[in-house]
This record gives sequence, C-alpha cells and structure tokens, in this order.
Amino acid sequence: MPSLFDPLVAGRLRLANRIVLAPLTRNRSPGAIPGPHGLAYYTQRAGAGLLITEGTAVSHQGQGYADVPGLYAPAQLQAWRRITDAVHAAGGTIVVQLWHVGRVSHTSLQPGGAAPVAPSAVAAKSKTVLIDHGTANFVETSAPRALGPDELPGIVDDFRRAALAAVQEGGFDGVEIHGANGYLIDQFLKRGANRRDDAYGGSIEHRTRLAFEVAEAVAGAIGGDRTGIRLSPVTPANDIDDAEPQPLFEHLLRRLAPLGLAFVHVIEGATGGARERSERPFDYAAARRVYRAAGGSGAWLVNNGYDKALAQQALDQGADAVAFGRLFIANPDLVRRLREDAPLNAPDRSTFYGGGAEGYTDYPALPEAVATA
Ligand SMILES: Cc1cc2nc3c(=O)[nH]c(=O)nc-3n(C[C@H](O)[C@H](O)[C@H](O)COP(=O)(O)O)c2cc1C
Repeated sequence: MPSLFDPLVAGRLRLANRIVLAPLTRNRSPGAIPGPHGLAYYTQRAGAGLLITEGTAVSHQGQGYADVPGLYAPAQLQAWRRITDAVHAAGGTIVVQLWHVGRVSHTSLQPGGAAPVAPSAVAAKSKTVLIDHGTANFVETSAPRALGPDELPGIVDDFRRAALAAVQEGGFDGVEIHGANGYLIDQFLKRGANRRDDAYGGSIEHRTRLAFEVAEAVAGAIGGDRTGIRLSPVTPANDIDDAEPQPLFEHLLRRLAPLGLAFVHVIEGATGGARERSERPFDYAAARRVYRAAGGSGAWLVNNGYDKALAQQALDQGADAVAFGRLFIANPDLVRRLREDAPLNAPDRSTFYGGGAEGYTDYPALPEAVATA
C-alpha cells in the first residue's frame, strides 16, 4: 500500500507525494488580481504533492465573493504566472480551481450590478463575503435569475477559455473544475437548485449535462490528463441538496470516465463538517468502483476532516491522495510535519477571509516553531 509520502502520477501531473493543498478562498486579491502575499503563500506550501489554488473566477459573472482572483484579464494571468513560476522553482506542481459561483453572489460583485445567474430563479439561503475597509462582512446572497438555454454555451466556453489561458499564459500545470459546494455546476446537478424543464433540468441525464459539457470542453482544450474535477455529493454547503445523490453522481462519473481526467476530487460529507450525514448517506467506495468500471483512470483524491491516520487509512482503502484544507492554512510545511509526526499549528478562523499577511503567510514553519517552543 502506498504511504502519504510516496509519489503519484495523475494523468500528466507528477506528484512528489500524496498530500494535496485543498482549494482555499482567502479573499486577499483586490481587483480580482492575485494579491501581494499570494506568491509567498503558495511557495511556502510547494512541498505538497499538488497545490490546488483557491477558487478562481472564469468570468466576471462567475465572481461571488470580494477580493477573489480571476482568470479572465491579462493582469490576473500575469500575477498568476509569477506565482506558478515561483512554485515550480520550489519544485511544486500547481493547478488552478476554475470557479463559477452561480447564485452564490451579490449584485455588487456582478457586471453592471446585475442579478447573479443560476439554473433557476431560486435564491440560496447562504451568505457571501463582502469587504469594507479591509473588514470581511457576511451578507445574504442576492436573488438570482435563471439562465436561458442560449446562455449555457457561453458559460461552457468561459470554462474552456479560462483553462486554456491558465496553462498557456498562467503557467499552471492543469486545472480543477469546481463542481462542488453548491456553486454553479453543483446547482445544475442537484434538484434543490435546479427546477428547469429543458435539456439541463429534470432527469439525471439532463442535470449532469452542464458538468459533463464543461469537463468535455476543458479536457478538449488542454487535455483530460491535466484536467481534474471536484465534487461534493452530499454537502449542504451554500444551501444545496439532492435527495438521491448516489445515482446522480454514479451517472456523472460514468459520463466523465471516457475523458481520461487527471483526477477526481471528492469531498466526503459536509464540507468542513461531519464526514457522514445520516440524512444523506453516500457510498464513496461504490462511486469509485463505478468510475473505474467505466474506464475512469487518473487519481482519486479525497478530502474533508482528514488527519494523518485517517489519510493513511483512505490510501489503504484505495484512494490515491488526500487533500488538506485547514491544516494547510496553519502549517505551510504540513508535509514535513506529517512525516515527522511533529506538532501542528492551529488555524485561526478570524483570519481565513480577507486581510493581509497575518494568518496567511506568517504561520511558522517547523524550525522556527521548534526554536521558539
Ligand atoms: C477558508 C476556506 C476557504 C475555502 N475555499 C474553498 C474554495 O475556494 N474552493 C473549494 O472547493 N473549497 C474551499 N474550501 C473547502 C476546503 O477546500 C475543504 O474542502 C474543507 O476545508 C475541508 O477540508 P479540511 O477538513 O482538510 O479543512 C474552503 C475552506 C476554507 C476553510
């Protein structure tokens, strides 16, 4: 059985170990351009086998939070390029998370102050983050409007263009499509947010259409072997729900299998919360078997609430790599700390969203922690 510290080949990606930096929004990119401390933040974490960036908007319409970065303007791509160059110089592998938030947005973040877009005009009972004079404020999302069928090819194309720009101009090794946590793709997948009766709503076949078309377009543009997708079958994040996740996600995985993706990244349970939801049971091993039986290759990444022991158990049971979120926020040298069973710094929630270097790039690495202990 592999250990967390063994290398892994995931499509075209070469991971030095099986410890992955989970995507983490930090709201430190004013003007949607990766901010001044981003380079240090990612470079400090280059020891991860794979770095997945924070959610990064594929279009202005895809923005849902203050000060999150994008991939749709030259200045954004240039800033990312400096980061990816530094991560590569430090020996790391980095992909960007392609994000369209759909209804989880606010008119003040949308082009022309317009309503956010969604599969259906159903508001999410959830909050987004706006920043006022450097202070993060949680506010209700704005009521969305339903996307017309004629608009969906444009959304798919935004993902495709962003993926191409990410690898060609941004210097990324690949991309992760954000299909999780109640954002646009997840909104189309799940009945709670998708009340459409056209080719993108209703049956499982229809509701998986947008996710598949995005993955197909991105893989077609940059190669499936440097494309990943993140899914969260049962998370309630951002007020998303579906009563029958097992057949839904098994169908989606069967459709994705022929694309030859570099990885599938699954959040188990409620993102950042319980790993099991009794009201929404899900058999992850069965979903993986379905994917493999359909010819799905590439790596199977798992996430949510992992520590070292649980992560090794996941590898023993067939996962290929494990993504760590909060532990990686607080421990830039997480790989080394896990290897040496060293004590871990505790994450400070008050500095998760917004601000500067504090709580972002000033968590001590091991030698410093030992010296001051
Ligand atoms: C501050 C913060 C920001 C996050 N931002 C994102 C994001 O941009 N994209 C995403 O898919 N998940 C995001 N997540 C979820 C994490 O990637 C991860 O799924 C979650 O923290 C559970 O993993 P953990 O228990 O190892 O922290 C975020 C979580 C936190 C705490």
